[in-house]
Amino acid sequence: LKDGVGRLPALGWNSWNKFGCDINEDHFLTAADKLIKLGLRDRGYEYVNIDDCWQVKDERDKKTGRLIPDPKRFPDGINGTADKIHAKGLKLGIYSSAGDLTCQGYQASIDREELDAATWAEWGVDYLKYDNCNVPKKYQGECQYCVPEGPPSRQFAHANVNGTCTALSNPCPANYNYKSSPTFHRYNAMREALAKQDRTILYSLCQWGEMNVDSWGNETASSWRVTNDIDPAWERVLDIWNQMTFRLHSTDFWGHGDMDMLEVGNGLSLAESRSHFAFWAAMKSPLLIGCDLEKAKKEEVNIMMNKHLIAFNQDSSVGRPAMPYKWGTNPDWTFNASFPAEFWSGPSSNGTLILLFNPYSDTRKKTTSFSEVPELGGGWFEVTDVWTGENKGCLRDKIDAWVDGHDTAAYLVGERCGIQGGYLNGNQKPVI
Ligand code: GLA
Ligand code: GLA
Repeated sequence: LKDGVGRLPALGWNSWNKFGCDINEDHFLTAADKLIKLGLRDRGYEYVNIDDCWQVKDERDKKTGRLIPDPKRFPDGINGTADKIHAKGLKLGIYSSAGDLTCQGYQASIDREELDAATWAEWGVDYLKYDNCNVPKKYQGECQYCVPEGPPSRQFAHANVNGTCTALSNPCPANYNYKSSPTFHRYNAMREALAKQDRTILYSLCQWGEMNVDSWGNETASSWRVTNDIDPAWERVLDIWNQMTFRLHSTDFWGHGDMDMLEVGNGLSLAESRSHFAFWAAMKSPLLIGCDLEKAKKEEVNIMMNKHLIAFNQDSSVGRPAMPYKWGTNPDWTFNASFPAEFWSGPSSNGTLILLFNPYSDTRKKTTSFSEVPELGGGWFEVTDVWTGENKGCLRDKIDAWVDGHDTAAYLVGERCGIQGGYLNGNQKPVI
């Protein structure tokens, strides 16, 4: 959605993964201070997002019908919190649901879109996460779409709609158009309400990948969730990552598949955290930190600060995500495969990003032959290790990497080099 914000994936912090409903203003001010102190704000993390449970649960303001911030959690109101966050050079996000109540049973926004959008605009809110719980009867009865499967073609991502589409209880008719779907209607109503405000509010759908959102998320919002919720379990990370592999075709500038908030710092191992962060960044997901930054380990913060991966995610000249160029040992790349593809590449302003994922628990050798990588073709190339920053020099034909279990080796492949093919790079000693 080209509305002034959200050309690139959003970067920030959100309370839900770590704190759930146990929130008050202090959490957000602390997170904001940590983003600044740790250097994350300077790397681009700018949104501080309030999730569910910020409001009075059972009622709206009797006179105005407005949502009421919980005075215990937000004693100065959301506008008070917004002022404090803005004073730190950051932006504030809020949360509601396209239903009668939020997922935790608080007041939500269906059929009150304009009133709520105007309220948030007046408060100084910069971002809305719009959830999918407690949908009223009149908007239910949605038909169900097939989820396409099959190998993404690198040119068009995938266009394979011959998915395994069994056992849908209410399949959509063949000529069904999302524009008449109640789901699209609910999310589009909020888009229109936000567009009427004279404040720019980034619109992020929390729509769990349902109702073929790939085909309309892009014209409705800046991002849309591709799956149901993440949790800090390796299997969940693998599942979401694998599902997103089949939805990459709709991600480009202004529209991003949201793989859900990061779980780095919430219990994954460092190897798993590296893989999680690398792929969320490479697939151009919004990157919303989901841990307690006061307790995060230095190594975990460093992963989320990785300058090469953030640069790839935030590349202002290349919008498309990285994609698998080879699937590796996974025999059945389907939506519910036990792990995703192992060999990935993607173009960027700074070179070609290569990611080599080891899904096994023991250390394995992974080899990238440059001739297999669509962005490269054969030859010799300058290579930088994305994790250590080490310049590996001019590598001939391939990269060999020993990758720990669950870890991902990451490289940025730059200029051609050496004497191969007549390329001789200025200060590069030819490797013979
Ligand atoms: C849903 C969303 C989560 C979170 C919770 C809050 O489950 O998908 O991201 O916002 O609601 O209740
Ligand atoms: C539109 C869409 C984006 C992207 C570009 C491609 O702007 O909103 O997601 O597909 O087109 O140019």
